[in-house]
Amino acid sequence: MLPYFPFGQQFNDKMGTAPLPESDRLVEVDEHYQAEIALKRQLLTELPGYYYQTLPGHETAQWEVLETVLQNLVRFAPDQFILHQAGNRWHWINQLLTEEQVFTFGDAATLPLDPLDWVGRQVQEDLILLTGTEAALVAGQLCFGNGWCLDEKVGLPFWQIHAPIIPIVEPMMQAAQKLMERLPVGRPVLRINWSVKVTDQLDMTSRHTPALDQLLADRLPYLTPETIGEHIYIRIERQTLTRMPQSGAILFGIHTHQNLLAHEATDQARADRMAKVFSTTPRTMIDYKGMTAFLPALLSYLNKHKQ
Ligand code: HEM
Repeated sequence: MLPYFPFGQQFNDKMGTAPLPESDRLVEVDEHYQAEIALKRQLLTELPGYYYQTLPGHETAQWEVLETVLQNLVRFAPDQFILHQAGNRWHWINQLLTEEQVFTFGDAATLPLDPLDWVGRQVQEDLILLTGTEAALVAGQLCFGNGWCLDEKVGLPFWQIHAPIIPIVEPMMQAAQKLMERLPVGRPVLRINWSVKVTDQLDMTSRHTPALDQLLADRLPYLTPETIGEHIYIRIERQTLTRMPQSGAILFGIHTHQNLLAHEATDQARADRMAKVFSTTPRTMIDYKGMTAFLPALLSYLNKHKQ
């Protein structure tokens, strides 16, 4: 079952953020760790400039992200990750990947990749950096993007990043913009986003959009009230926002989890809540999320599975 279930009694038009408790991990390691790291590294080898980008001048923020991520891994899984720090001389040991790296903190020449690009290959999360009063996207490693890619968004402020959905949920995005401006150091927040997909392919960056649209068209005949459960995946993103103490940049982490609809719907309460949310989601949002063609079959399926 999905570890997070962001469905309540109706579509939530609020931004849905909550403080990330001190006891919760910033970066999660789960049973898909090895497979997802391998996939990330394969994508980054094939198309490095598509999956990782940075604008010049954000070195401090990149090192802060590296430090934050490594220390979080060690704190929550000291058996799997070890970090020896002797002044600026750091020794990283990743037992899950059986690999290690010695480097000088703050000296980019001692790492094989940019700090953000290197540390992104240690975690399942996509990692995005935003800076300035407008929270512009200045760097990121994005392998599992859901319908977007760095080429489209690098350099854009938060507001413009969300241009396609501003007309649909403007008040929500105004609140989110304020949150980006005011997020304090040491008080990270969490939000869970949801979507409904016809495949569990993790990399849904924009270069795959035409193929994914075609896949949906091909599968439509199978998306009936009887069979849709076996063909549709619930895809959620555990998103975190953390202000970096020195640079003031914001780290946006995205951990994607997914599960087959039929598995989620074995829980009647979950089926009921999904039915309630999908049936109250504005049509414009249903369209944006690419659910219009199969919504009636989806609701009919869920209504049969709820208590
Ligand atoms: C509290 C913070 C945030 C809120 C409330 C928020 C809300 C949303 C919502 C409602 C959508 C529509 C998609 C959906 O619901 O499935 C969306 C899409 C998106 N969000 Fe956010 N978001 C937040 C933070 C961020 C941040 C920090 C980034 C940084 C890159 C980001 C990047 C995007 C992108 C790229 C899309 C897809 C836009 C497109 O279709 O071109 N979001 N966001």
